[in-house]
Amino acid sequence: MGNKLGKGDLLYFDANGTTQVHPEVQKAICDALQHYGNPSTSSSLGKTSKALIASSTATILKNVFDTDAGNLIYTSCGTESNQLAIQLVLQSYQSSHPEGPIPHILTSTIEHPATINYLRHLESLNQITLTCVRPSSSGQVPLPTLLSSLKPTTILLTLIYAQNETGSIQPLSEISSLLKSTSPHLKIHADASQAVGKVSCTVSGGLSGVDLITITGHKFGSPKGISLLYTSTTYPPTSSGGYILKGGGQMNGLRSGTENVPYIVGLSKATEVCCNLEKEYNSIMVNFKNSLTSEIDKVVFNCNSDEEGLVNTLSIGFDDIPKKITSSYIISLCEKNGLIIAAGSACETGKGSYVLRECRVGDDIGRCTLRVSCGFWNTREEGRRAGRILGKVVKEIIEKG
Ligand SMILES: Cc1ncc(COP(=O)(O)O)c(C=O)c1O
Repeated sequence: MGNKLGKGDLLYFDANGTTQVHPEVQKAICDALQHYGNPSTSSSLGKTSKALIASSTATILKNVFDTDAGNLIYTSCGTESNQLAIQLVLQSYQSSHPEGPIPHILTSTIEHPATINYLRHLESLNQITLTCVRPSSSGQVPLPTLLSSLKPTTILLTLIYAQNETGSIQPLSEISSLLKSTSPHLKIHADASQAVGKVSCTVSGGLSGVDLITITGHKFGSPKGISLLYTSTTYPPTSSGGYILKGGGQMNGLRSGTENVPYIVGLSKATEVCCNLEKEYNSIMVNFKNSLTSEIDKVVFNCNSDEEGLVNTLSIGFDDIPKKITSSYIISLCEKNGLIIAAGSACETGKGSYVLRECRVGDDIGRCTLRVSCGFWNTREEGRRAGRILGKVVKEIIEKG
């Protein structure tokens, strides 16, 4: 499909930062814009909008989760979905245990800031106690540590299913069956923002036994501004109209705010056209890796991202890079040569990566680590060209010393 981004022909390999909006998604959104009725109203216009939400929901449930049961709560972004998941579980516990002890939440040290900063905030308000488990150098959270961190008061395990910087994947269905055999009332939330279309998110496969799942539209072909939270059970509505956003009581009283019907339709279209691309992503990244490593042999793939991680993602460091060189410098040279890539996560630009540190990547490698991630628009030939550009840029840096 190529990369016509309006800035000449750039090779865009930062899909984990955000993706292009798929042309079919754009068309679906434009078509849906004519249906302007408010879905909460009883006019025929409102009913049409409501029906569009219902049919989009059925499509998404089938395409992503492979089910016709479960609930979808549409939100504005992955950040909101993660925080809504935490609030659904926390407020349900608080209303059923008004005099109960402070609940405990279990998570990892490599969560996205949308999760970890929120949990720390709740901890600082004494609303929860928190345990953050550190992963091994492969980026995976050790199951025995998760198990031994459970307490009688643990209400929730929230984990990032596919890590945005390293691509490491947590075996959530295995984790769920292990932990729930000890704590049957434990709720499990997966932040699957980076997972859709790259690793199984079905509720009988990769995410079996997971109760709440975050999906983020702009990571797989939808525009920014639309995401969702899947819940396997139905949560009761709040009298104030929502668990975080309070007001008119849309989304069955769970999340207020008039629904963004055209973007919901677009999100549903994205699940048709941007899923099942694993094989293509694999071919693109194999080409990338081969042409990179044929230019230079000083490449380090952090957290085994070349073997075990998300199929579209590589976390790449280099041996022998001079100390003064940072990833932002390499990124700027790549852009001059027509290649867009990222350092760590998009939200963290300019700061060192805590994710890499937690995964025991040393500062020498971490300082110049790059994240390369492909999306539906990339071709295998682009993979080859992108690897060559990065290889040449780094080779020149090392040779200059
Ligand atoms: C794993 C993960 N979770 C959550 C988010 C937050 O998504 P948003 O920026 O849409 O709120 C991101 C975005 O990068 C992400 O990669």
